[in-house]
Order: sequence, then structure tokens, then C-alpha cells
Amino acid sequence: MIIPVIMAGGAGTRLWPLSRKQKPKQFLNLLSPDYSMLQTTYQRISGLKWNKSILVCNEEHRFLAAEQIRKLEMASGTDIILEPEGKNTAPTVALAAHHAQSNVGSADGEPILLVLSADHEINDICGFEKAVSKAITLAKKGKLVTFGTIPSRPETGYGYIKSGAAEDEGFEVVAFEEKPDLKRATEFLNTGGYLWNTGMFMFKASTYLSELQKYAGDIHKACEQAYQKKAHDLDFVRVGASEFINCPSNSIDYAIMEHTKLSSVIPIDVGWSDVGSWKTLWDSSDKDSDNNVILGDVLTTDTQNSYIRAENRLVTTIGVNDLIVIESQDSVLVAPKSASERIKDIVTQLQTNN
Ligand code: GDD
Ligand code: MG
Repeated sequence: MIIPVIMAGGAGTRLWPLSRKQKPKQFLNLLSPDYSMLQTTYQRISGLKWNKSILVCNEEHRFLAAEQIRKLEMASGTDIILEPEGKNTAPTVALAAHHAQSNVGSADGEPILLVLSADHEINDICGFEKAVSKAITLAKKGKLVTFGTIPSRPETGYGYIKSGAAEDEGFEVVAFEEKPDLKRATEFLNTGGYLWNTGMFMFKASTYLSELQKYAGDIHKACEQAYQKKAHDLDFVRVGASEFINCPSNSIDYAIMEHTKLSSVIPIDVGWSDVGSWKTLWDSSDKDSDNNVILGDVLTTDTQNSYIRAENRLVTTIGVNDLIVIESQDSVLVAPKSASERIKDIVTQLQTNN
């Protein structure tokens, strides 16, 4: 029995000024005019066999999340777990694992979680489905399965997986390094044999929880206590607030994947990307004959290689190249594409000033 777990509690600060605290990127229609990133995550798994999914998000976004999945028939049986505060993905998956264990009858077998981010794009859905079915065999054998894709640049925002000997339909993981610096990432690319971790995982709930207990006992304990104190509120599951707020913050990658001896990797080539910044969004969007992505009321002359988005007013550009221009109701961002990663610094600065 597969249980999709959708992690939708991130902040998405690099996509400011559209991605905001009240409505972060996973709830925005960034890749499609009609569906949000969260909704497209569900559409991507509509061909897989599952009955019930778990969505974990911040309590502040509960109505937004509920409203968006209500529009998708396939997601009607979703349990929404609310976090009182974002503690990164290791606690998120722990809550989902406890929930899966206490909500799946023994007749369905032990729950196997398919953990997905809500900020990805995948072009080849069929290829993705095939990779998931390969992962099931390994997950049933007690492996923590990752999905790795061939790196195309020394990206420092991803995890790197060194694959080893073949095992079943995947490979064993020899080393996992989360977000290396540029020097290490360049070395990995030059050495070869490394894959990018795509941030999707598959494992039995019990395998995850026992590895969490082994490598991050404090997170394990806090999440167990927080889940024990859960309360049902309408369709939501609220975990114990004080127990969860005391939980240390860490990602699944740093807390477990860098340490576990039980991981495997399934290589994938499915047109995957993490839609993390305006630059990656430009990379994945359809472009016009000037290599621009234009959205909304925009007039351009002699403008190339740019991402220009107008939400409320007319935006015009003349004689510019490689630019990001985002006009939103209360703010305007103008930046060279190369500064995409630094937009989170503006958000930090704005938060400090307010
Ligand atoms: N519920 C919940 N709570 N979700 C969260 C939280 C949290 O505190 N923090 C992040 N998420 C969600 C995000 O919304 C996103 O969908 C997913 O978890 C991954 O978080 P990111 O913050 O986007 O991670 P990342 O992109 O920096 O790194 C991960 O993904 C990369 C590929 O996209 C890692 O797994 C890397 O190793 C990987 O390469
Ligand atoms: Mg991400």
C-alpha cells in the first residue's frame, strides 16, 4: 500500500515578490495558468495506485491547502497534518510516518511512503511512474530509496548521491552529501558517478522511524510526542504544539540521508527540475522568439533572455537582456537572472526591517 506524502510547508523565498508568507510558492500557479504547484504534484501521481494521501503543511495555510486539493477529485481522501511551525523536512516525514502507521489497517500491509516535494516539475510522467514501481521492491526490503538524476551544473542547492553496485533495479548509495559548496560540487561533476538527489523518497514508515531514532533521536522523540498529542479539527490533524515547537529543525537529507547505511538510488531521466528560483522557472518555461518568458500585460522592445511577469499593471522594457522583472500588487523586483539565488537575502532584509 503506497501512501503519497506531500510536503508543502516550505517558504519559497527566492520567488519573492510572488511567493509570500501568506501564500508561498507551492500554492501559486507558477508553471500552469490553471493549477498550483501543489495541484500539479497530485496530478503527477494520478496514474499510480494509492487510496489515501497525507499532506503536511503549516497551520497558517490550512484553508489554502484544503481549498486547492478539494478541486482535485483524486485528492479527496487526503489527511492534512498541520505543523504549528516549520521544522524542515525530517520532522515533517516523521509525523506522516506516525500517521500512516496509525491509520492503515494491517490488511493493507505495512505502509510505504512516497515522499514528494510540492515544488517540482517533471515532464515525463510515464518515466516517473516506472521509477516508482522499481522503488517499491527496494522499499519493501527495508531500503530508503532516493531518486537521482544526472547533474548538469555544479548546483550548490541540491544533495549529491554517489551510486555504487547494482541492487535489484537500483543502486546502492556509497555517499550522500547535502548542499555542498561550489568547490565540492564542481569536484563531484568532474569526478563523475554522482547524481543529484531529486528530493523524492520512498520507504516503509517503520524503516524511516527506526533510522530517525538512530541518527536524530531528539527529532524522533519530539515528533512521537507531538503526534501522540494530536487532535482532529474539522478535516485537519493538529499535532501537539508545544511538543512540536520544541523539536529541533533539520532536513531529512542532513538528519538521515547523509548517515544511513540503508539507502538506494533509482536513476531517473524524466525532465525533473526543482522550481526554486526565477532563473529555474525561466529555464523550465516556454519562451518566445527572443527567448523571453512573458506573462501578463507586458510590452517589450529589444529585450532578450528575460522573465517578465506583470500581475496588475502594464510593464514595458527596452534594450535589456537576461533580466527578471516581476510586478506584483505591492512590490516590483528587477534583477539580473544571475542574482536569482540572492533574492532570499532581500526577504531576510525586509523581515529584519519590519
Ligand atoms: N510540511 C513542511 N514543513 N514542508 C516543508 C518544510 C517544513 O518545515 N520545509 C520544507 N518543506 C517542503 C517544501 O515546501 C518542499 O516542497 C519540500 O519540503 C523540500 O523542501 P525545500 O526547502 O524545497 O528543499 P530543497 O530544495 O532546499 O532541498 C531538497 O530538495 C532538493 C531537490 O529539489 C533536498 O532533498 C535536496 O537534497 C534536493 O537536491
Ligand atoms: Mg526545493
